[in-house]
Amino acid sequence: MKRRKFIKNTGLGAGSLLSGISAVSFLESCGENHMMNGDGMNMGGQPVSVKEGNFSRPLPVPNTVTGNTTLTAQATTANINGSNIPVLGYQSKGLLGPTIRVNSGVNASINFQNNLSEKSNIHWHGLKIPAIMDGHPEDVVNPGSSFNYQFSVNQRAALSWYHPHPDRATARQAFQGLAGLFIINDTEEAGLNLPSGIYEIPLVIQDKRLSSSGITYNPSMGEVMSGFMGETILVNGEASPFAEVTTRFYRVRMLNGSNARIYNLALSNNADLIIIGNDGGLLKSPSAVKNILLAPGERLDVLVNFAGLTAGMEVFLESKEINNAGNAQGKQGFKILKFKITQTVNDSFTVPVSLSSISTVSPSSSSKTRNFNINAMQMGGGMNMTGMHRINGKTYDKNRIDETVAASTTEIWVFDNSQGDEPHPMHMHGVHFQVWERSGGRGQLIPSESGWKDTVLVMPGEIVKIIIPFSTLTGVFVFHCHNLEHEDDGMMLQYKLT
Ligand code: C2O
Ligand code: CU
Ligand code: CU
Repeated sequence: MKRRKFIKNTGLGAGSLLSGISAVSFLESCGENHMMNGDGMNMGGQPVSVKEGNFSRPLPVPNTVTGNTTLTAQATTANINGSNIPVLGYQSKGLLGPTIRVNSGVNASINFQNNLSEKSNIHWHGLKIPAIMDGHPEDVVNPGSSFNYQFSVNQRAALSWYHPHPDRATARQAFQGLAGLFIINDTEEAGLNLPSGIYEIPLVIQDKRLSSSGITYNPSMGEVMSGFMGETILVNGEASPFAEVTTRFYRVRMLNGSNARIYNLALSNNADLIIIGNDGGLLKSPSAVKNILLAPGERLDVLVNFAGLTAGMEVFLESKEINNAGNAQGKQGFKILKFKITQTVNDSFTVPVSLSSISTVSPSSSSKTRNFNINAMQMGGGMNMTGMHRINGKTYDKNRIDETVAASTTEIWVFDNSQGDEPHPMHMHGVHFQVWERSGGRGQLIPSESGWKDTVLVMPGEIVKIIIPFSTLTGVFVFHCHNLEHEDDGMMLQYKLT
């Protein structure tokens, strides 16, 4: 606890009457580098170890609905690990909500009915839609009321998702069960004849803290700092499930729907994860890896080939140990999902050499570069230990526009975590971007970062540059860290596209 020590040494105890504002200037005058030298200290909670289950329950798959539907946020119950516990959901039984599946070009009309006892709304994470339909933190729906989200889906095939986004309640509502998938299909994707139907498996991966009385959400100060993690890994709302597969290619589409936990995904038989897509849809060409990081908010579209295995064998999707992601992520490897091979079949599928035409946006087309310091502990939240996560020294203020951007221009945004000691998955509303460069930390782009993204992981020590072609969807959007505790703690700003 470096900060504690610092405070003690300077005589500013927790009982100090020092105001937030003078704390800022006082601490800033000490120099950030002096305080935060990126030596891997984690200011937050201790790692929460994962308790693996026995992989004896079948993987549930959310049912699929069209873009003309009703989503009712409600308190309900879910059967997890064999017991019924109270949760929140977008349907009358179980965690999560249905998977919305649409073709690119359709008009969606989704009636959101808020049957919670508190305000909520829906953000369509990954959809490029008008600001008034985007689920801005201030555009909330009162308990008992409804709102009709209407937008046309004018973007390429991709796996997007939806979740609540009310100011300072996003993390709790999402952790208690509110989230769902939103799949867009298009003709380019259809032309690839990728595995579909039962051979296309969606996976919402989330960690939860479970007790017999429900899903516990009570972050301590340290957990606001590190993010709130759980000991139980759920996939599609079930703990440690299994999926039956045959000896062929499967398309596995994954969302990290956790609040704060990052996964280092791999297969237990050391087979390739053949990455074909990410947040914004298909990559240009496939990229085979043995393991890949997936941060909260990010999606991954992979092909997995079970050919060569025999009936009765088991392969686990697992998370390998993660290095350099701050202490709170822990150093533990664990299993997420069991694939049980049930029978041998013939498979004629071959992995396409080329997937999609994607033009690289050149940095020279950028008309402006904006720099964002995302180091945690830019101090100044007063002595109450809230507002510890900031962007350029600021926490979210609904009455302040932080960046004004001209419609239809291209910009470079730089997320600088070079002095930070925590991972920050940075997410932008209203746009898709390309990741141009990473320096420090991992020092390079990873295979899932080609193509289009809406969330990019910035690890401790890293500076990541992204290129954003802004559209004509004028209005006010937020951008924030998708560690949801960080977001609710204020690590979110607003940009106005004009
Ligand atoms: Cu998935 Cu603003 O969030
Ligand atoms: Cu979003
Ligand atoms: Cu963060």
